Order: sequence, then structure tokens, then C-alpha cells
Amino acid sequence: MPRWKAESRPACSPAEWQQSTPSSGDHVVCGNDLYGGTPRLFNQVMADFGLEFTYIDTSDAKNVERAIRKNTRMVYVETPTNPLMRLSDLAAISSITRRKKVSLVVDNTFMSPYFQQPLSWGADMVVHSTTKFLNGHSDGLGGVVVCAHQQDADKLAFLQKASGAILSPFECWLVLRGVKTLAARMDIHDRSGRKVAEFLSQHRKVLAVFYPGLPDHPQHALAKRQMTGFGSMITFETGSLKNANKMLKRVRVCSLGESLGGVETLISHPATMTHAALGEKGRKAIGITDGLVRISVGIEDVDDILDDLNQALSAI
Ligand SMILES: Cc1ncc(COP(=O)(O)O)c(C=O)c1O
Repeated sequence: MPRWKAESRPACSPAEWQQSTPSSGDHVVCGNDLYGGTPRLFNQVMADFGLEFTYIDTSDAKNVERAIRKNTRMVYVETPTNPLMRLSDLAAISSITRRKKVSLVVDNTFMSPYFQQPLSWGADMVVHSTTKFLNGHSDGLGGVVVCAHQQDADKLAFLQKASGAILSPFECWLVLRGVKTLAARMDIHDRSGRKVAEFLSQHRKVLAVFYPGLPDHPQHALAKRQMTGFGSMITFETGSLKNANKMLKRVRVCSLGESLGGVETLISHPATMTHAALGEKGRKAIGITDGLVRISVGIEDVDDILDDLNQALSAI
């Protein structure tokens, strides 16, 4: 697979900015299995500014090609997705977006730059919620956008200046502190993530496990090619809302929480938490059932996490 070198272009004029990023009347193609807050922002805020969004399954690159229209300016994907851990082939998608002259933006929050570097697969911009692995300690909110092209970085810097929605110095300091231990934390997250996924996949109360590091994940080969680790985000099926509730009430080492990527293990229920805003119909359309539980495996002793999951699952 070829890896792209990010080209550095000179800063462009405000007129050219309009070309590079979407504005009123433009169309954006998005994955249909994104973090719930992303479609909420797109549909309930950005749509009022005249942007149009189409949601498709980006795990098949051909769907991306089919969805691109004359007024499409951007393709926005998350890989792996939240919570179903579906992957998108970034090399295949970027060869389409480059040919069609459309920007490819990738939410890389789940993998962090330690395990996946979308710019090297041809993406034009990468977004991370720094609230998660980059900060790593669940004590700061923030985000970063990493740009391959100078004109996009210039536009974002201008928007920050014009709108003022920027991180405080203290919040930035927290992220910089977290980044110093990113490699050490990610190695533990990955090691423990694999152990927890294997444990869950063999547990008789667990009906399915979604984790790209398992050999039976349908895109395991792509995961091995595109990522250098599998991370610690795992989703599993307990069979019903009742079962999910029972186990979530019993956990002691794992804390019930919507966030992810911190040193502590967080467990959540997508249907009533992160993906509640999608509504029942929206969740059903992409396969988010009431029995799904998502876990962000922390860096505690993995045996404590396994014992906790085991005792919580025995309540089902
Ligand atoms: C993949 C992904 N991207 C973005 C976000 C948004 O993060 P924040 O809480 O920093 O707004 C989340 C939050 O869970 C997420 O899972």
C-alpha cells in the first residue's frame, strides 16, 4: 500500500479558502456509525447553515465513490467507529477523494497517533478529541485538528481568532503533560485490550465481541495493515437492555461513564448514553442494539478488570 507524503502548499487567499472547506450549499459524505455527538452537530447545527450531509457505510470504499456529488467538498470518516468498531480503508478512500478533489477528514480519537496516522494514508485533516487518549487522565476537555495542507491550517487559525473557541493555556498544558506518557499508556491499553477482548469472546454470557484485534473481526487484515496496534476500545453484546443494565449496575473496578481513553476503565451503554440522540430508529439502522456495552480498558492491573467483568456478567 502506498503511503502519501503530506504536500506543503503555500498559504492561500480567502477566496481559495472557500474552495477547500465546505460552506453553504455544499455537501458532506459521512460515515453512518460515528460518535453520536458528530451527527448531532452536523444535523442540528451545521445543517442550519446550509450544509447537507449524507450518511453511508464507509467500510466499503465503493459507497464513498457513489455518494460523492458535484457539490461534495468533504468526506468525514471515523475508523474504527464508535461503538461498532468498523474500519474504513483509508488508502482506498483517499485515492477516491484525491481523484474527485474532495477533502478527507478522519476522526482518529480511538487509535491516537500512536496506533494510526491517517495523514500517511492520504487524509487531508485528522481530528482527535484530546479529552480521550491524548490527555489520558480524564481531567480536561479539548480537541485538535491536524492538517496536511497549509491553507486548511491557516483557515482554522483564522476561525479560532475570529470565533474565540479555543482551549485555555491550562487545558493545553494538561494535554501536553498527557502526551509525554502516550506511548507508555497506549502499550498497556493495547495489551490489556487484547486480553479483555479474548476473555469476553470466550465468555458464555457474551453473544458477540467487536474488536479489530480479534482474528474473527471481519476487517482484522485491514486493521493489521492500517494500524500498528488495536487499542483498548471494545464493544460487546449482552443480548438485551435488561442484561446490560444488570451487569452495568454490578461493576466495581470499571466506572460507568461516557468518556474513554483515560487511565481508568470506563464502561458505558451506547443506546442510552453516547448514541441516545440518534433515536431508536437511527440506532437500529446502524446496528446499535439495547444490549450493547462499550468498554474503554484502562491501565489498571488487567486481572482486576477481568475479575470485575466476570463477577458483573454473572448477574445476567
Ligand atoms: C470518536 C470520538 N470523537 C469525538 C468525540 C468528542 O469528544 P469530546 O468529548 O472531547 O467532545 C468522542 C467522544 O466520545 C468520540 O468518541
